[in-house]
Amino acid sequence: MTSSNSLDRKSQAWSALFSEPMSELVQRYTASVFFDQRLWRADIQGSLAHAEMLQAQGIISAQDLADIQRGLKQITQDIESGQFEWKLELEDVHLNIEARLTQLVGDAGKRLHTGRSRNDQVATDVRLWLRDEIDAIRELLKNLQRALVEVASQHTETVMPGFTHLQVAQPISFAHHLLAYVEMLSRDEERMGDIRNRVNRLPLGSAALAGTTYPLDRARVAKTLGMVNAQGEAQLCQNSLDAVSDRDFAIEFTAAATLCMVHISRLSEELIVWMSQNFGFIRIADRFTTGSSIMPQKKNPDVPELARGKTGRVVGHLMGLITLMKGQPLAYNKDNQEDKEPLFDTVDTLKDTLRIFAEMIGGQTNASGTKEGGITVNAQAMEDAAKKGFATATDLADYLVKKGLPFRDAHETVAHAVKAAASHGCDLSELPLNVLQGFHPSIEKDVYDCLSLHGSLNARHTIGGTAPDQVLLQIARHQQRLA
Ligand code: ARG
Repeated sequence: MTSSNSLDRKSQAWSALFSEPMSELVQRYTASVFFDQRLWRADIQGSLAHAEMLQAQGIISAQDLADIQRGLKQITQDIESGQFEWKLELEDVHLNIEARLTQLVGDAGKRLHTGRSRNDQVATDVRLWLRDEIDAIRELLKNLQRALVEVASQHTETVMPGFTHLQVAQPISFAHHLLAYVEMLSRDEERMGDIRNRVNRLPLGSAALAGTTYPLDRARVAKTLGMVNAQGEAQLCQNSLDAVSDRDFAIEFTAAATLCMVHISRLSEELIVWMSQNFGFIRIADRFTTGSSIMPQKKNPDVPELARGKTGRVVGHLMGLITLMKGQPLAYNKDNQEDKEPLFDTVDTLKDTLRIFAEMIGGQTNASGTKEGGITVNAQAMEDAAKKGFATATDLADYLVKKGLPFRDAHETVAHAVKAAASHGCDLSELPLNVLQGFHPSIEKDVYDCLSLHGSLNARHTIGGTAPDQVLLQIARHQQRLA
């Protein structure tokens, strides 16, 4: 705090109105610079667009603009090289950069804030930053979908039990099961795209809350910042009070991130179950597991477990943000400074999780260009499990319906057959024909086609069903969509 720069002293940053400096505790309590500094690039990007427009509108001179550009370039280099000195007493990223700019270029730095407030500035910065993060997240979502589709494409004929209530229900293919997650993730990606449209709107020009007296060209700033719709038209926040105060865009992003984490959490739960010795359906590469410090035989699925756990923390961020907004009067309130940490942590958690899952499921391409890692599937264990629990009972009922029985009667008849098979300790497909015929005389030899696992699979070829021909169509659709 040795500089003579006026912004260097918090008590003087605002005006001569203040008769005493902030206490250290209050400074620490109100400062955000140690977390909001990650917005620095967006802050500079926004300042450059604003300054350019101020000059084009004749509000600042060409020389001022050149000075501002030069200063901000220097600051960019200093931040990138780790040389920039962030100061707690300058409260936040905005005041830190502005103070340094003024130190570097003098009065031009002081003119940058003409027609602007930190209220519209921070709203713009967060939106710019989040827009880019959404783009990165959509790419990561695509990568994870690609990994799942790739594994699925090798397992359209791999039969496993499909569950309801975690009880064996009907045979499905492993590919079909994985593609369910691809659907969820594709909706997550779509949702992110929808939200991006609402994030990508410009608050600047709203100033503190009521707009500004300077003849700003808001559309020009929006266009410079890429805040445009598909037709290239500027997307502006249309009410200055709303623009500086609402954080619904951050809340809906976090809600979408929460849904995505919930999808990953469900997948995690399944991976954990499938890896357990009692299932033995899959293995994941050792680098995604850890050992136990006491039980030498253990390989624990830490990565999926952590993803399941981290879902809770993102749910918490959603609750935090939504509660933050509740009860705030218009317009800006300092409460909104609390939007950053939950939002940043949501982005970090989601990105890391998506990245690690794509690797854990699909593997990684090594130096020689081959894929390694990824999940290993034990098709035999899956098939054996599908044979337990009379997974083709519905198929037998459907067979009887095709022979003319009403479905409810067929259901009852099959229940008797299942009871008999259970008491013999065998599957329905292992009951001799004469025994089956004892349940209904219309049963013929061809019944065994529908009692086999693959027969059952093949028979379900409605759109979106598990029959391999249908699953192959879905795989082709996804591959095209993700190309
Ligand atoms: N650091 C503040 C935030 O994140 C910037 C806006 C401050 N505006 C104000 N009027 N105090 O919200």
